[in-house]
Amino acid sequence: MTSTNTIRADRIIDRCRQIAACTDIPGETTRAFLSPPMHRVHALLRGWMEAAGMTVRIDAAGNLRGVRPGPTPQSPRLLIGSHLDTVPNAGAFDGVLGVVLGVAIIEELRGQHLPFAVEVIGFSEEEGVRFSKPFLGSLALIGKLDAETMARADRNGVSVAEAIRIFGLNPADLPAAALSNEAFAYIEFHIEQGPLLESEDASIGIVDTIAGQTRMSFIFEGHANHAGTTPMHLRHDAMAAAAVWIAAVEDYANTHTGLVATVGKVETSPGAGNVIAGRVTASLDVRHASDQARHNAVAALIRSAKETAAKRGVQLVTHTQLEQSAVPMNAHLTRLLQAAAAKAKLPCPTMTSGAGHDAMIVAQRLPCAMLFLRSPGGLSHHPDEAVRPQDVEAALSTAIEFLVLLRDDKTTPRDDHA
Ligand code: HGY
Ligand code: MN
Ligand code: MN
Repeated sequence: MTSTNTIRADRIIDRCRQIAACTDIPGETTRAFLSPPMHRVHALLRGWMEAAGMTVRIDAAGNLRGVRPGPTPQSPRLLIGSHLDTVPNAGAFDGVLGVVLGVAIIEELRGQHLPFAVEVIGFSEEEGVRFSKPFLGSLALIGKLDAETMARADRNGVSVAEAIRIFGLNPADLPAAALSNEAFAYIEFHIEQGPLLESEDASIGIVDTIAGQTRMSFIFEGHANHAGTTPMHLRHDAMAAAAVWIAAVEDYANTHTGLVATVGKVETSPGAGNVIAGRVTASLDVRHASDQARHNAVAALIRSAKETAAKRGVQLVTHTQLEQSAVPMNAHLTRLLQAAAAKAKLPCPTMTSGAGHDAMIVAQRLPCAMLFLRSPGGLSHHPDEAVRPQDVEAALSTAIEFLVLLRDDKTTPRDDHA
């Protein structure tokens, strides 16, 4: 690879690492929806975007919106985006890489005429950590931040609407965050977050479908009591019920091909070693490319939780935070991406995304496509998450070829004013 390519890729990686230093918790990368460090993230990206000739605004959902103008204000508009929030103790590239790569594409296009505008969007929230509801930024883009969501409170009792005001924005301006009528397509560049591309020694991959996902909480309501004086047969132990169920979740997923099911978070009360747990709240995250298989799994795991609880005289309450169907990517845009990879002389396998992405929300309004970059070690949602410079260069080269193909494609809306 020539030195020029290394410089481009290294600068993209360096920018991602600068953004990773903007964190709620010193010493790690943790950035929740509209937390104070997001102001610094916006300032960094605004600087790079404006230097590339883009106009920049922050919409009322806290999405960063940079636009490379088209020939006229009414020009059709291609969207490139991903998210700027992170999971706790994250890596530097999940989400952020897609936004920084979008800016790099604009820098590479300097001086080139396009018959459409390009908008790079840094979504304010995709992970669903602060309010247990993912995709807040892209839901605002498609006009679906509903009253129930706006009223959701975080663990400190702050609502989404208040979080927006505290960040210095006005929820009343949310309508202006919605997609403009000129938008005609969306593409998202994202790390794979899994082992497949590495197993095929491929730098990049194209997503054909984003797996559907269900996110729930299971509340096991037993009876707290003294750990030393309460005989085993008189207990209503919420922890024992939850523990048996959590093992059953793993057993179920291990015996159903293509299914993943995760209990990633458990909260117990009262949380003392010498007290039988009275209440345990466990998360459940279920994913599959087939919606039917996922629904079957969720039904089976609810039945299993009810039976396990009943055996111990423990009550069960379940809440659903997310019910998201599997989303196919747009066939035409995907073909253009495949042709772009071929023009860049890059092998590019097609694959299902087990991770959710903003593209699955934007796809409710626009044709969408996704390009993955290899995740070394298949690692993500972890501080050691990484990307390789040659893979970043491969994605950038493919992206530039994609925009040229899109420019010349007869189905692309165009504005031929000079
Ligand atoms: O969890 C996910 O699917 C993604 O990282 N938001
Ligand atoms: Mn993520
Ligand atoms: Mn992500």
